[in-house]
Amino acid sequence: MALTINQIGPCFAGEVAGIDLTKALSSEDAASIHAGMDDYAVLVFRQQPMDNDQHLAFSRSLGELEHAIGTSLRASKDNRFPTNFADVSNLDKENRPFEREDRRRLFAIGNRLWHSDSSFKETPAKYSLLHAHSIPSKGGNTEFADMRAAYDALDEETKAEVEDLICEHSQLYSRGKTLFTDFTDEERERFAPVHQVLVRTHPVTGRKSLYLSSHAGTILGWPTPEASIYLQDLVEHATQRQYVYTHEWRVGDLVIWDNRQTMHRARPFPDQEPRDMRRTTLAGDGPTVI
Ligand code: OGA
Ligand code: MN
Repeated sequence: MALTINQIGPCFAGEVAGIDLTKALSSEDAASIHAGMDDYAVLVFRQQPMDNDQHLAFSRSLGELEHAIGTSLRASKDNRFPTNFADVSNLDKENRPFEREDRRRLFAIGNRLWHSDSSFKETPAKYSLLHAHSIPSKGGNTEFADMRAAYDALDEETKAEVEDLICEHSQLYSRGKTLFTDFTDEERERFAPVHQVLVRTHPVTGRKSLYLSSHAGTILGWPTPEASIYLQDLVEHATQRQYVYTHEWRVGDLVIWDNRQTMHRARPFPDQEPRDMRRTTLAGDGPTVI
């Protein structure tokens, strides 16, 4: 059966049917998924139970993996999985929900701010592939915003203004917005800012998008408070409801999003209920600023 995609969001996001992700991916289906990603920017695959190896194999058949090394506050000895997974669960190594005050939990709560994955890395992420292993009884949705539609809706003057701007991104900035400042010197060094363009052009479709993220703190050459407010205003514009798709998770869902064209955020849920979400990430082509 040929793979089909139906749009489920307001201006983007498609649901894919007619594929079993535990089977080897044919080159036709891989091409359809990439074309679907170019077009819809978020793809939802329902009822795809997979173990980590199947998740990894499917991810690798779409591109090269980015490794989640040194990007969270989990010490490597406390990881549930190898570094080719970003563990976005609220669980410790014994699969128990983190205590409310656990700093790993409080750092991870920064995912509830609108962001693009790994925008704090020199070469930021291409796709993220998030799979739900267990979900809480309520809450815990993930919201996505279409940064192409948000760009298209800017007036011409703003488009000209943002065109060549370069931002500094760091997890210190995103966590600073939650007033989490409990970093060691080593972490501060590890999270040193990187530069990213503010307007990206998709390499296949040629569509422009606003490359925003909670990790973006300032704009090169601008006074920081002015840059910070300017970026917050753009985020407010870009995350209006007409650009947002809300994903209500079911166990076994896999959602892929293009970090070059979208932002996303997690929504709150009861903190003592397990939410076991595992992410692989495909590496981007290179830095956005040369
Ligand atoms: C992520 C992320 C949101 C969520 O996996 O990168 O931000 O809802 N997840 O868990
Ligand atoms: Mn994320």
